Amino acid sequence: MDPQLGLASPWLRKCRLLYVCLLIGLLTPSVASSYSIGVGIADVTGPVAEVVFMGYAKMDQKGLGLHTRLFARSFIIDDGEQRFVFVSVDSAMIGHGVKAAVVKKLNSHYGNLYTESNVMISGTHTHSSPGGFMMDVLFDISTLGFVRETFNALVNGISKSIDKAHNNIVPGRIYVARGEVLDANINRSPAAYLRNPIYERKRYKHDTDKDLVQMQFIAATNRPLGVINWFAVHPTSMNNTNHLVSSDNVGYASILFEKRVNKHTMIGKGEFVAAFASTNLGDVSPNTRGPKCEFSGKNCSEHYTCRGKKEMCFASGPGRDMFESTSIIAHKIFNESWNLWKSGTGKEVVGPVRVVHRFVDMPNQNATFYNETSGEVETVTGCSPAMGYSFAAGTTDGPGSFAFEQGTTTSNPFWNAVRNFLAKPTDEDVRCHGAKPILLATGQMRKPYQWQPKIVSTQLAMVGNVVLAGVPGEFTTMSGRRLRDAVKKAIDETDESFGEAEVVVAGLCNTYSDYITTPEEYQAQRYEGASTVYGPHTLTIYLKQYAELARHAVLNEKVESGPTPVDLSKEQLISLVAPVLFDSPKWGKEFGDCVKQPRRTYGPGGVVTVRFISGHPRNNLMTGNTFLTVERLEEDEIWTPVATDADWETKFMWERTSMLLGSSQVIVSWEIPDTVLPGEYRIRHNGYYRYILGGIYPYQGVTNHFQVKTPQINY
Ligand SMILES: *[C@@H]1O[C@H](CO)[C@@H](O)[C@H](O)[C@H]1NC(C)=O
Ligand SMILES: *[C@@H]1O[C@H](CO)[C@@H](O)[C@H](O)[C@H]1NC(C)=O
Ligand SMILES: *[C@@H]1O[C@H](CO)[C@@H](O)[C@H](O)[C@H]1NC(C)=O
Ligand SMILES: *[C@@H]1O[C@H](CO)[C@@H](O)[C@H](O)[C@H]1NC(C)=O
Ligand SMILES: *[C@@H]1O[C@H](CO)[C@@H](O)[C@H](O)[C@H]1NC(C)=O
Repeated sequence: MDPQLGLASPWLRKCRLLYVCLLIGLLTPSVASSYSIGVGIADVTGPVAEVVFMGYAKMDQKGLGLHTRLFARSFIIDDGEQRFVFVSVDSAMIGHGVKAAVVKKLNSHYGNLYTESNVMISGTHTHSSPGGFMMDVLFDISTLGFVRETFNALVNGISKSIDKAHNNIVPGRIYVARGEVLDANINRSPAAYLRNPIYERKRYKHDTDKDLVQMQFIAATNRPLGVINWFAVHPTSMNNTNHLVSSDNVGYASILFEKRVNKHTMIGKGEFVAAFASTNLGDVSPNTRGPKCEFSGKNCSEHYTCRGKKEMCFASGPGRDMFESTSIIAHKIFNESWNLWKSGTGKEVVGPVRVVHRFVDMPNQNATFYNETSGEVETVTGCSPAMGYSFAAGTTDGPGSFAFEQGTTTSNPFWNAVRNFLAKPTDEDVRCHGAKPILLATGQMRKPYQWQPKIVSTQLAMVGNVVLAGVPGEFTTMSGRRLRDAVKKAIDETDESFGEAEVVVAGLCNTYSDYITTPEEYQAQRYEGASTVYGPHTLTIYLKQYAELARHAVLNEKVESGPTPVDLSKEQLISLVAPVLFDSPKWGKEFGDCVKQPRRTYGPGGVVTVRFISGHPRNNLMTGNTFLTVERLEEDEIWTPVATDADWETKFMWERTSMLLGSSQVIVSWEIPDTVLPGEYRIRHNGYYRYILGGIYPYQGVTNHFQVKTPQINY
């Protein structure tokens, strides 16, 4: 498409014959005030075996297979003058390196139609996806450095989902709706939340946000195009003992929504796209049973330690195990979003599209802060990046590996000595970070390259009265509320006629800079406060920044692009993840041989488990494809796929059987859903093996047929 044409919508651009256009215009008068909308979905699943997951920073949490595939979901909105792209990605976060590479790729296809400024990429924050894509040293330590396969899978998949959205643009309408999900999240640092002033807390009924905000996209022909939902919850229902790649609770909610609309299409292949994107989830856990001691089961919400015993304190629930918990949370948020979608209570969104973006050098910012306690207005500054002691303690969603405790506000000489070996914090660091005892002075650490970013992306998009504040990290509940208020206030003060702004915090966008607590929560130095990298007034600075961005957007003014972030892709990125050397099947066997066959018959609710001789799953990521297919024999003797490795009901597990011989097997399981059609079934496995003398070759294997019966119905 030619962006220079500047016509209202692509179908208009296509209208070469004037009278046809006039006719269309007369027949569809409601299209006049609408947007051009495109949606697209693409696979971003990286290596599913032997790469450490990003999220819990647990080095032994390596992938050993796949539960649900990971996707990027893109939404393009254009008002004829300005284009905006929102992408929600099943990833732990998004780093500047990933976004820059996506924009570069898009530039080579579309000129400057898509830029750093009008593309907003938000990670869902799943903790069960392969890591190594971040480039900054701190975020790649636990994954043994940079993993190019993960990075490429993300960059290619995100770009592809935007390509698809671009090629699907149609005229359409947008609606916004708001609902509530009451029992799907809890605050995991309530003690820090209680540090916020009482008059402020009194304004809210809960210590986490319960709202679900939904943007609905409908074509002018009334065909449903897609939906974006924002509900604050950490995708940490799958805990740090999980080794199967998973998009967790919000990813499963997306799958449920898409399946409901797309009916029998395979996951990731349908036209309708449903995102459940991240928002102010910083201190929000899905593990609603709350923190309990590992063995005694005692409530440990007071001190987060289980005294006397070598026992962990962690949160779980609401299900019997992590799979059931993930499913329950997913169904709760899906259910509410589906109800909203069907209710017709959405308000139509009208008005221009505006996007503003600015890179901000956080340590060099200042802002004014009104201190309630002292009654004074202070000028405050950002700090050089540093992580506190409690960062190493982890959270109740995934406790850390060392003997650190959350809420630590004093330091320890041994760890200080270790720390000083890496980099000693300056006196200014110590003063600036205040209540935070510094464990890692990442701002001073330059070897081998940047540990944490100093320059972050700040971005704000307006679509009519819907305002998305794309933030570079994890805002806590109260931080998010303050940000929404600050943006709303700035808009009201700039344009009285704007009406009620619907402000959404779009979480984990573009750059990752850990957590953002309120200055009061920061004093408690829980995990979130210890990980607020630019010091106690990180939020104070963002409130000023985003208010400025909002003013510029309302006035349709350009903002200066700010300083350029360091390009880490030029560094010698360290990578210690071993490549696949070769595969060999067991003696007397072939790749794809089924060594454990299914039983002859199953009923609904049964689980089929089979085993194949396999190659290494990293030989080919099967992007946009599948390692397994459940097939049903149709009337016409054709085997038709009913499930792939992207389905919740299937699991794909990889097992090394001999390191020396390079042999491995995969275990495929299928939980037969209640809705299954009776009939003849089989399971297929597709993969690639690496030949010892070089080259990668495809293979496949198929099980014996098996019968799925439905229970006898008596008339
Ligand atoms: C655990 O104890 C805290 C007080 O220490 C209490 O507020 C909380 O409700 C208890 N949680 C459960 C699940 O019993
Ligand atoms: C993770 O969940 C499993 C159940 O699925 C449970 O056995 C295990 O204790 C949990 N571990 C942690 C650290 O949450
Ligand atoms: C789904 O929503 C309906 C309507 O609000 C409600 O009656 C039902 O209990 C909900 N189900 C779940 C699993 O939350
Ligand atoms: C605060 O920053 C602005 C630039 O953003 C600068 O002009 C001003 O002098 C700074 N104020 C203080 C007190 O440092
Ligand atoms: C406000 O001022 C008091 C008294 O000077 C101080 O103890 C407190 O840390 C300040 N609060 C913040 C959030 O900076």
